[in-house]
Order: sequence, then structure tokens, then C-alpha cells
Amino acid sequence: MNIAMKIHVLVFGLFMLHGLIRSHAALVRYNFVVQETSYTRLCSSKNILTVNGQYPGPTISARKGDTVIVDVFNQASQNITIHWHGVKLPRYPWSDGPEFITQCPIQPGARFSQKIILSNEEGTLWWHAHSDWSRATVHGLLVVSPKIGTTFPFPKPHAEIPVILGDWWKNDIQTVMEDFMRRGGDPAPSDALTINGQPGDLYNCSRLGTTKINVDKGKTYMLRMANAAMNNIMFFAIANHELIVVGTDGAYTKPLKTNYLAISPGQTIDVLLTANQPRNRYYMAAKFYNSNPRSIFDNTTTTAIIKYNGKYTTSTPSPALPSLPAFNDRKASTRFTSSLRSLATTDHPIDVPMTISRKLLYTLSINTLPCASNTTCYGPRGNRFSASINNITFDDPKTSLLGAYYRRINGVYGDEFPDNPPFAFDYTAINLNSSLQTPKNATEVKILKYNDTVELVFQGTNVVSGIEHPMHMHGYSFYVVGSGFGNFDRKRDPLNYNLVDPPLRQTIAVPQNGWTAIRFRANNPGVWFMHCHFERHVSWGMETVFIVKNGKGAHERMLPPPKDMPKC
Ligand code: C2O
Ligand code: CU
Repeated sequence: MNIAMKIHVLVFGLFMLHGLIRSHAALVRYNFVVQETSYTRLCSSKNILTVNGQYPGPTISARKGDTVIVDVFNQASQNITIHWHGVKLPRYPWSDGPEFITQCPIQPGARFSQKIILSNEEGTLWWHAHSDWSRATVHGLLVVSPKIGTTFPFPKPHAEIPVILGDWWKNDIQTVMEDFMRRGGDPAPSDALTINGQPGDLYNCSRLGTTKINVDKGKTYMLRMANAAMNNIMFFAIANHELIVVGTDGAYTKPLKTNYLAISPGQTIDVLLTANQPRNRYYMAAKFYNSNPRSIFDNTTTTAIIKYNGKYTTSTPSPALPSLPAFNDRKASTRFTSSLRSLATTDHPIDVPMTISRKLLYTLSINTLPCASNTTCYGPRGNRFSASINNITFDDPKTSLLGAYYRRINGVYGDEFPDNPPFAFDYTAINLNSSLQTPKNATEVKILKYNDTVELVFQGTNVVSGIEHPMHMHGYSFYVVGSGFGNFDRKRDPLNYNLVDPPLRQTIAVPQNGWTAIRFRANNPGVWFMHCHFERHVSWGMETVFIVKNGKGAHERMLPPPKDMPKC
């Protein structure tokens, strides 16, 4: 063999090897030890639930198509479940996590090995506890990088920076939840907002811990953002810097240049930040958006510092603060959300269902229930708050709904969740009749056939008071094909749908007194939770379940459960 041939063989060999690596989906393992850990914030210490002692919790890193095994070991003194937010888990709802929907909780001292099967997700996702309110401190990022041999649909960033937005109560979160449930009113507002677990310079006793991010002038960074806050949409911005959104909820978007962004609890956003300003320190900041004038909320501002590397003298004592939209700027919130578009290229194609086999209209309402006798309630006019979808307040079963479906156990749930609101009214009118306020309690699910093409319109109502609802669906991503204020008009509004490059999401904020239309193909058999991602609304019952039946083909059926499913 002459030299040229040898080189040729070598190059060909490397090429083949590269091909092998590229097609190989890896198995990645993590240990999650859920435990009580002492943390100090805002001048006081308390025990919080953590994973591996970390708050926020560890980042899971994988590549598109990998499978991640997480061995969850509960060393805390309360029940827990863990959910992989945004991972579709094809045919394998067993690892999904919502308590009493797909599993019984992992009891103290017990273990559960969860298998997180990634498929077409690529970008930033996150994981969080899915029992009681423990997700307040039990959460972290789940980063899905491009496969080996592929890359981002934009120039590779110099580095990736996690930005997890959250909130912090001085009180124990379980106590906050129990007080809230007992009193029947709004929950106590948080005492601070956080970036990567730190409130930042604007709070007492917080300066030392403030999150600091070092950047090199001229370089571009990718912020991997998640809103892990419990009850509010947030505005976010960085002083003097433009943001370019390139992905949401584990899917790429067309680049969107903006000075601020709005992010709902549950959502994730990938943002490019170019350090192109004079060498200095700049604040990134986030605060709550709150459209309900009557609710008390935490109106503080969390900050972190972007610090340019190198030598420079700063003339101002503290970094510049970005200007954020006003806390009640409804237009700013909806404008950002409705500006997002799918990338929709040959490498990242879209697949919006064009013919629809199931049309659903779900109303989202805040309700009230009478207060139990001999107790005082702090909801409207001495009643207790509740919430509903199509006027049904979801009652959690006492055992795993998925288990009951799989083993054909009767009496755990009903399958008569309505396709439409039980009675039609002017959903977004002011001063709605108070007779509309009382929901029905039930555990009803919606059954879908395999490959049904579903259009679901969420209709926010003004019953009690209209507010945004960040609706999240497990097991699926969906295309957001339209949204608007007021009542959805079945004749007129579909004419304006975006079927060309609608964003692919797993959580979408339905506008206050408005509607949002989503489409998806029911090709993931299993039992899938759908709920508002405001924790107080979940506690009030704004949740429901889809059961997607098996198809006929061998790869269209649910996989069997693992041996170590927790027992109730
Ligand atoms: Cu982010 Cu049902 O959850
Ligand atoms: Cu809600």
C-alpha cells in the first residue's frame, strides 16, 4: 500500500468511527439523594429539601436521544416524587413523576430508579419535585446538547450559563402550603426572588452570595434559563445588553432580539448574550409580573452581576440596573410570548397537524367553594378558593391513576371529561354571575385514540377574577397556533392561525381573559397530566389527565412498568 492509499484508509476509518459515535445514544447515570439541608438566606437559616445537598439542584447533562437513569433515594422525612419537565418519555409514563397520577410517592427511606428517555428534545429543560410544594427547592436544569457530530443552529457559544429563576420563603415551604390550604385564601407571598438560588444585592444579608457571572468582552454566551418560581410569571432583562432568544422548552426558535423577556413557571428559554458593551459590571434582574390588582405578591427584584473580565475602573459605585416592564404590563407579557416562532428549517422541521380529529375547548376558571362550618376562610367573601377546567376541580386519586389504568382497576377515575364547557356563557365578561363560581369536584380524564390529531383551545374566564394560566402538558410538546384576548371565536379565529412556524412548547401562558389554541398528535400512549404551572392553582384543582390509548403496532404500545415502582 502506498502512502496515499494508507492515508485514504485511515481517513475512511476515522470517518466510519465518527459515524458510529454519532449514531450512538449514550446511557447516562445520576444519583439523586433527597435530603434536608440547612440553608441561610435573608439573615435566617432553615432546613430545606434538596437533592444531594444542592440548591438549586444538580444539572443533568445529556445529548439528544440519550437515556438517563436517575436513582432517586429519599433520605428526607417526607414523601417525594421527581418529574422531568419537558421530557416526553415515549411510551414510558412510569418515570414521569406526578404524585398519584403516574406513581405513588417515594416514601422516606425508599428508592426509585427513574429512566428518562430523551427523543427529539434539544435545548434546556428542567426537573423538579412533583408532590406537595417541594418543588420550591427541589429543582434543577436538564440540559440536552446536540448529538455528537451535530451542532446548534447558530454559532457555538463561548460558554453556557445556567440562569434559574426562583423564589424563597423565610418560612418552611410545607408550612406555607399547609397554612394556605387551611385558610382557603391566597398563599403568603415569597420573601425574595432568586437567580441560581441567590436573592442578590437588593435584599438584606444577600450581597456576599449574589450570583456573579464572568464574561470576556467580545464573546457570546448562552443563558440556559428556567422559571422555577411557584406562582408567578417573571420579567427578565440585562442592563445595556440585547438578548437573542434561540430556543424555548427544548426546541429551537427563530432568533428573536429583545430587551426583556417574560417567562412562566415551567418554561425554559435559551438566550444568546454577547458581551459587547464597555468593560464594566451590569445587573441582570428579574421580578414578578402580576396582572391581578387584588392579590398581594412579592414585588421585590432579584439581581445577579455580569462582570467583564480584565482591568477597568468603574465610575459608578453599583452596576446599572436594566429597565423591566411594569409589574402589571399585560401587553409586555403577551407581546413577548406571541413573538416566538419555530425555527422550521430542514434540519429542524415542524409537523403541525393540519387535519384535526378531536376539537376540544377547555375553560380555565378560578372558583370559590363555601367555607366549612366553624372555620374561617380567607378567599373572596369568606369563601374558599378553588379552580377548575371545564368547571371540574380535579380530585387527586389516592393511588396511581396510571397503575389503575394499566391494571384495569375500576373506581379510581372516570372517563367523562367533557370536550366543551358544560354551559356556554360570555367567558370574559366583567361582573359574571356568582352562580358560575361553584365547580364540580371529580376525577375525570379525557381518553384519546392513538394518533388522534388534537386541537385544544384554552379559554381563560373572568369567573371570580381573570388571570394568566401557564398550562403545561406532560408527555408532549404542542404547537401554539393562535391566541388572543376575549372569547375564542370558532369561525373567525382559526383563519388567523399560524400553521407555518408556530412555536413548539410544553408550557404556554394563556392570556388573562383570553384564549390560546394548541395542536398535537396523540402519538405517545400513556397517562399524561395537564395542569396550570402556578402552584396555588394546582392546589386549587386546575388540572386534568389525558389517557392516550395504545396503537396497533408493536412500537405504538406502552412499555411495561419497572419492578421498583413505589407502592401507596
Ligand atoms: Cu413542571 Cu407537572 O410540571
Ligand atoms: Cu392557573
